[in-house]
Amino acid sequence: MIDLSTKYLGLTLPSPLIVGSCGLTNSLKGIQQCEEAGAGAVVLKSIFEEQIVADSDGLVPEGEGSLWHTEAYEYIRDYGHESAVSRFLDLVRETKKSVKIPVIASVHCLTPGSWIEFITRLQKAGADAIELNVNVLSSDTRLTGAEMESTYFTLAETLRKVTTIPVSLKIGYHFSSMAAVLFRLSHSGIKGLVLFNRPFFPDFDIDKMELMAGRAISGTQEYLMPLRWISMVSGRAGCDLCASTGVHDGKTAVKMLLAGASSVQVVSALYDKDIAHLGTMNNEIRSWMEQHGHQRIADFQGHLRQSESHNPAAYERVQFMRHSVGIE
Ligand SMILES: Cc1cc2nc3c(=O)[nH]c(=O)nc-3n(C[C@H](O)[C@H](O)[C@H](O)COP(=O)(O)O)c2cc1C
Repeated sequence: MIDLSTKYLGLTLPSPLIVGSCGLTNSLKGIQQCEEAGAGAVVLKSIFEEQIVADSDGLVPEGEGSLWHTEAYEYIRDYGHESAVSRFLDLVRETKKSVKIPVIASVHCLTPGSWIEFITRLQKAGADAIELNVNVLSSDTRLTGAEMESTYFTLAETLRKVTTIPVSLKIGYHFSSMAAVLFRLSHSGIKGLVLFNRPFFPDFDIDKMELMAGRAISGTQEYLMPLRWISMVSGRAGCDLCASTGVHDGKTAVKMLLAGASSVQVVSALYDKDIAHLGTMNNEIRSWMEQHGHQRIADFQGHLRQSESHNPAAYERVQFMRHSVGIE
């Protein structure tokens, strides 16, 4: 019997496939559909720092949207702000009553702030874990790399002190010294790192001569970035690693597990196909395991990570060479 269960953040997941934070996990119905289709856990649609803080102040400043973090403003405009916080807590409570799989609440934040108190309310509401989506673009010409990085370390340290449930950080890849940042964060007391968030990209409409949104859905080759970094960090990380971005099929999920991830988030593939695609992906993982004589995820997890390789330098190669790409 093939066993797809895995441990992530100290929780037992019946499958390594987690439905990542997105519109599909914004309602009880959507979450139930994810469970029925074979999700191992769900990450709820994020609530934003600004939303929590505004709600706790009892007032969202009308007409001041442009002064806010744009993404948060759009979220608040589209999803409403009046009782966003209590709606979010209600969803956590209802979901915990209705599904068996772990429920991870997602909070989007930029810095440690008064929203941290909100974490205790999430804990009380029954969330199994919290995923913090911290993604700051290094666009401030006055900020050094070290100053940017220290925001993340301070946040991780604060969280370690205030939380009683596991916390993971979902981060981007704009660090000049990526290995050092990932290593230090993984040993900071957080239970998991989600590698990586896929940021919004602006694009140009060259007929209208204006900005437009880049593609929201990831491509099938985008998994290569998290695959490389999970492979390189997993042997030395002090916490669980969860792969995110570009996982569209079961074979790619297997690659992430071979790199050392303990779970894999899926979003775009479910928008591209449908939620039932989770079942297909689970079957693909199962049949690969059968073919290779593995009964449990632990039997092969991390087997292709850098620290177990006879050729570790290959993981760090960045230049195309004739013999490695075969197209010149
Ligand atoms: C429609 C949509 C909504 C999303 N909303 C959130 C969100 O609220 N919070 C968050 O952390 N990530 C959000 N994401 C990012 C996804 O969780 C995920 O990190 C990203 O899509 C990369 O994974 P994928 O390649 O499997 O799509 C969203 C993605 C999409 C497509």
